[in-house]
Amino acid sequence: MTKIILMAAVFAFSTLAQAGDPAAGREKAKVCAACHGEGGVGVSAMQDFPKLAGQQNDYLVRALKDYQLGVRKNPVMAAQAANLKAADIADLAAWFSSQQALAVK
Ligand code: HEC
Repeated sequence: MTKIILMAAVFAFSTLAQAGDPAAGREKAKVCAACHGEGGVGVSAMQDFPKLAGQQNDYLVRALKDYQLGVRKNPVMAAQAANLKAADIADLAAWFSSQQALAVK
């Protein structure tokens, strides 16, 4: 009985916290790599594409939600964010925030 209550509590907490899964985020980030690069540092020294590697988790979540809502306006990213579910955003943010911020070579 205690075990069941504990498991329920753990489940409820993880649902509330919306903790992202970096490994799942890595898979989902394949479409992002075209612009943001595999390592999250952009594809070129031309800084049209912001570096995402090492950015704060909450900042990434907020940015993606803002593109979805149109609070932050950018046609390219609005299209990229349009179909992301909350769990996708959490996973992507977990992945990019877990990466090391590196300089573009
Ligand atoms: C076609 C190129 C392209 C693709 C693909 C793309 N992005 Fe972007 N991304 C951009 C551009 C350009 C910006 C800068 C937009 C702006 O000025 O707000 C940007 C900005 C962002 C930002 C805000 C960064 C900051 O520093 O504020 C986040 C977060 C982001 N992208 C996440 C993603 C994720 C996650 C994916 C994959 C699901 C993705 N992007 C796919 C081009 C792209």
